[in-house]
Amino acid sequence: MSESSSVVEVCVAGTGSYVPERILTNGELAKMVDTSDEWIVTRTGIRERRIAADDEFTSHMSTKAALRALEQAGMTAGEIELIVVATITPDTPTPATACHVQHQLGASNAVAFDISAACSGFLYAMKICKRLISDGAFNNALIIGAEKLSTVTNWEDRSTCVLFGDGAGAAVLRKAGPGEGSIVATEMGTDGNLTHLLEIPGGGSACPITAQNAGQHLHTLNMQGKEVFKIAVNRMKEAAEKVIERAGWRAEDIACVIPHQANLRIIDAIADRLAVPNERVFVNLDKYGNTSAAAVAIALDEANRTGAFKRGDHIVLVVFGAGLTWAAAAIRW
Ligand SMILES: CC(C)(COP(=O)(O)OP(=O)(O)OC[C@H]1O[C@@H](n2cnc3c(N)ncnc32)[C@H](O)[C@@H]1OP(=O)(O)O)[C@@H](O)C(=O)NCCC(=O)NCCS
Repeated sequence: MSESSSVVEVCVAGTGSYVPERILTNGELAKMVDTSDEWIVTRTGIRERRIAADDEFTSHMSTKAALRALEQAGMTAGEIELIVVATITPDTPTPATACHVQHQLGASNAVAFDISAACSGFLYAMKICKRLISDGAFNNALIIGAEKLSTVTNWEDRSTCVLFGDGAGAAVLRKAGPGEGSIVATEMGTDGNLTHLLEIPGGGSACPITAQNAGQHLHTLNMQGKEVFKIAVNRMKEAAEKVIERAGWRAEDIACVIPHQANLRIIDAIADRLAVPNERVFVNLDKYGNTSAAAVAIALDEANRTGAFKRGDHIVLVVFGAGLTWAAAAIRW
C-alpha cells in the first residue's frame, strides 16, 4: 500500500527504549536444549537476549521506553494525544496494553489502542499515526513496539527458543516545524496466504487453551524458519526499495538502514541487495535477539542515541513478521 505525499510534515521528535535486566546467554540456553553458542551465533548472530521478570509486563516495559522518548521530545505525558502499542504479547487480551500504558503514564488526554502486526507492528503504527497527524486528527502520537516474547516461547524447542527476547521501544511523532525532520515515505504489505509459516496457534478463539491441551505448547511461537527466511529477504528488500525510490534517494544517500533484528544473515542479505555498506546498517540483535515489534524500535533508539545518524540524515527502517507482514519507512531525521 503506497501513499501520496502529505501536506503536513510529521517528524520523529524523540525515541526511547527499555530492556529488562536479566540476560539469558547462549551458554545458558545450551544447558536447557540441545544447542551451542557456536550454532546460534553462526546461524543467527544472536549472543544473548533479555528476559523480563515475572511481574514485569509488556505495559511496564512500554511505559519505561515511552518516558525516555517523551523526555527526549521535551514533552509531558499530558500533552500526548494518541498512544498506539504494537504487540503480540499484550498484558491481557483486553483491554489493550495501550490503555495500561496511558494509565501508567498519566496521559489522560490520549486516545489509546493496540495493533497486532507482529514484528512489523512498530512501522504499521508509524504509518497509521503519521496519517492521523498529517490529516489533522491529532497533533502528536506516542508509538510503541513492546513484547514479552518469553511468555510465548517454547523453551523445549531449540529451533525457536534461541531466537526471541523481551523489550520495548518508543517514538514520539508530531507535526514538524520548519527545518525539522520528516517521515518522507512509508510502505506496508501483508500476505495472509502465509499465516501458517509463523504463528501462535492456541490461546485465541480458534483454539482456546483448555485443561486438556494445556501441555501441548499451543500458546507458543511456531515457525517454519527456512521458508520465512527467504520471503523475509525479498519482501524487506522490495519494501525498502519502494520507500527509497518514493523519497527520491539513492543508496549512497542513506546514512543508516535499521532493519528488523531477527537474523544477521537476513540483514546481510538485505544490505547486499540494497547496495548499502554493512557499516551503515544498524545491528543490535547480538544483545537482544528478535524482540518482534520492539526490535526495530529499540534499534532506532540505540542508533539515535549512539550517533549512528544526525539531524538531516536519511535513514531507512524496514521490517518483516508474522502475517506475513512487512513495512518500511524513509525518514529525514
Ligand atoms: C530459524 C533459523 C535461524 C534456522 O536456521 P537454518 O539455517 O534455516 O536452520 P534449519 O532450520 O535448516 O536447521 C538446520 C539444522 O539445525 C538444527 N537446529 C535448529 N535449531 C537449532 C539449534 N538451536 N541448535 C542446534 N541445531 C539446531 C535443525 O534441527 C537442523 O538439523 P538437521 O539438518 O539435522 O535437520 C533461520 O531459518 C531463520 O532465521 N529463519 C527466519 C527467522 C525469522 O527471520 N523470523 C522472523 C520473522 S519475525
